[in-house]
Amino acid sequence: RDDLVFSYKGIPYPTTLCSPEGFKALESFEARSDDVILAGYPKSGTNWLSQILTDLIAISQKKTPGEESSVNAEKVDEFPYLEVGDAEKYERMTKLPSPRFMATHLRPENLPKSIFKNKVKILLLIRNPKDLATSFYHFSNALAALPSYETWDDFFTDFMTKKMCWGCYFEYLSEWNKYADQENIMTITFEEAKENPALAVKNIATFFGIPLTEEEHQLVVQRSSFQAMKKNSEKTHGSFGNIFFRKGGVTDWKNLFSEDQNKKMDKAFEERIAGTKLGKKLKYDVYCK
Ligand code: A3P
Repeated sequence: RDDLVFSYKGIPYPTTLCSPEGFKALESFEARSDDVILAGYPKSGTNWLSQILTDLIAISQKKTPGEESSVNAEKVDEFPYLEVGDAEKYERMTKLPSPRFMATHLRPENLPKSIFKNKVKILLLIRNPKDLATSFYHFSNALAALPSYETWDDFFTDFMTKKMCWGCYFEYLSEWNKYADQENIMTITFEEAKENPALAVKNIATFFGIPLTEEEHQLVVQRSSFQAMKKNSEKTHGSFGNIFFRKGGVTDWKNLFSEDQNKKMDKAFEERIAGTKLGKKLKYDVYCK
């Protein structure tokens, strides 16, 4: 574990993806007001929403979705996750044409100040903590860059403390909740996008000011379905791309959580998040009980 993870400002990150030099350089990154940012904790569905956003950007530029835009590291000019990459990445990003798409798992206080100063529009994606933890557990054992876990119980203990890469999810939600009322931030839940993908795409396009024909709307919805993305995963994410598309549903947590773990998470959620704006959006009683 020690080789795989380092700590920056008290939060663990995977050594193969992030570096202290990268974080230092990121602090002075100059965001543009027309950048398109997706913020979401790991396993909240960030690859899914990235697909929607890159297609919408392509449409806004009169390009055919899928021809140039992709979340694949090899196909885009820079890997879209802001905190992932070498320290020179941000200098290279100054040369990218607008609108630049970027995603991040960081909390707002660890993002470059220019993002908020320049009122960049942010799509904030959140997911119910039980399914998110379930997804993170399976992913930790599938991706070599992350510490793996022999048992679900071990993972759960770490998830409920501050040991996860990118920090504690409850803290993540509380920090972003401070920004949830800003007009340049749109919050969406994994569960609402799953329930009505067509509406989700429409609302996201409206928020970013991208007009869509009926045909374009349908194309984005179809290309971002779980089945379509899973099928295309080798092309978009390389030979192990399928690990990003496991089940893509809700309430898989029921297969893992013990009664005691349910109680612990219900209590933590109730005490820390339930009363907040983001907490209410998560519909905990519907998806986690
Ligand atoms: P599961 O492990 O529960 O299946 P991230 O992209 O942030 O790593 O999140 C991964 C989670 O989003 C995985 O959840 C994955 O299956 C799910 N996902 C990815 N694409 C999806 C899609 N198009 N529709 C629904 N869920 C999707």
